[in-house]
Amino acid sequence: MKAARIILPVIAALCLVAASAPGWRWALPEGVAPPAVPADNPMTQARVELGRRLFYYADLSADGTLSCANCHVQRHAFADSVATRGGVDGSSGRRNAPGLANVGWLTPLTFADPGATTLEVQAVTPVFGTHPVEMGMAGREGELVARLARDRCYRSQFARAFPASGGRIDFTGVARALAAFQRTLVSYGSAYDKGRMTAEQRAGQALFQRDCAACHSGPHFTDLAFHRIAAADPAASDQGLFEKSVREADRGRFRTPSLRNAALTAP
Ligand code: HEC
Ligand code: HEC
Repeated sequence: MKAARIILPVIAALCLVAASAPGWRWALPEGVAPPAVPADNPMTQARVELGRRLFYYADLSADGTLSCANCHVQRHAFADSVATRGGVDGSSGRRNAPGLANVGWLTPLTFADPGATTLEVQAVTPVFGTHPVEMGMAGREGELVARLARDRCYRSQFARAFPASGGRIDFTGVARALAAFQRTLVSYGSAYDKGRMTAEQRAGQALFQRDCAACHSGPHFTDLAFHRIAAADPAASDQGLFEKSVREADRGRFRTPSLRNAALTAP
């Protein structure tokens, strides 16, 4: 009996190690390679679960009223049902929230920011961005960390998600968890993916191939490049890529959006 008592904790410790070891199961269709995952943010169940909570709860917004999921609505393929949505300060939004299906495979992210190369980097913008203000936490990172650290559930979730740092709660961890969760938003179940299209759908595909696929190319229907699809207008309130690059040639250029689940992402 005594021996068994000593052995049992050892076995339990081994099990914990095995459970958090690399080897996330992607459950992708045959032939689909997993998205690139930064070496410092390996996928684990604990990170995905923490990321899901951070995505759906409004804890990352200044007044606790706005979550990622308010603008990225699951039943709209994680897009919004309105053209633009204002931030917590009452200001108006500027752009339409894109869907997030298969977002793990997209880089750069957003309509006009070549610097948003990973989901970890992109997560900074909705929380701390000022043009537009969305979640309104600019300059309040310390307050955000303190808020999460007060919550027992977050403390234990960070501990499970980031055991190597002793469960440190900081925005790097928030961004990593959000990224891990978003990499699980996978969509490969359409009639197109299964090669089960109707005659009408195949006719549409031929037209799409002719008129649209130059930009909406590949498995996510985007070439991930910046294009101008309307005449550049220096008076327009949104100058697209120009706002980041300040190159005249970039006025009115936007990254081709994915058309995954496009039937659900209007307007
Ligand atoms: C107020 C609405 C709003 C909130 C809140 C919001 N987003 Fe967004 N999201 C947008 C809009 C609008 C865009 C497009 C922005 C742009 O292109 O400049 C966007 C773009 C994105 C993209 C890029 C998708 C692509 O196809 O490139 C990701 C990823 C994303 N958001 C994740 C998040 C996460 C994670 C949160 C929470 C931390 C969040 N968003 C909160 C409105 C919102
Ligand atoms: C020259 C590149 C280019 C071509 C060709 C092109 N698009 Fe686009 N498409 C874009 C860009 C860039 C945007 C985003 C800019 C914007 O919305 O103003 C966009 C936006 C869209 C959207 C909105 C997606 C959303 O979720 O809001 C749809 C739908 C769409 N295109 C379908 C098509 C179809 C159908 C065709 C062919 C008839 C086509 N596009 C041809 C570049 C292109």
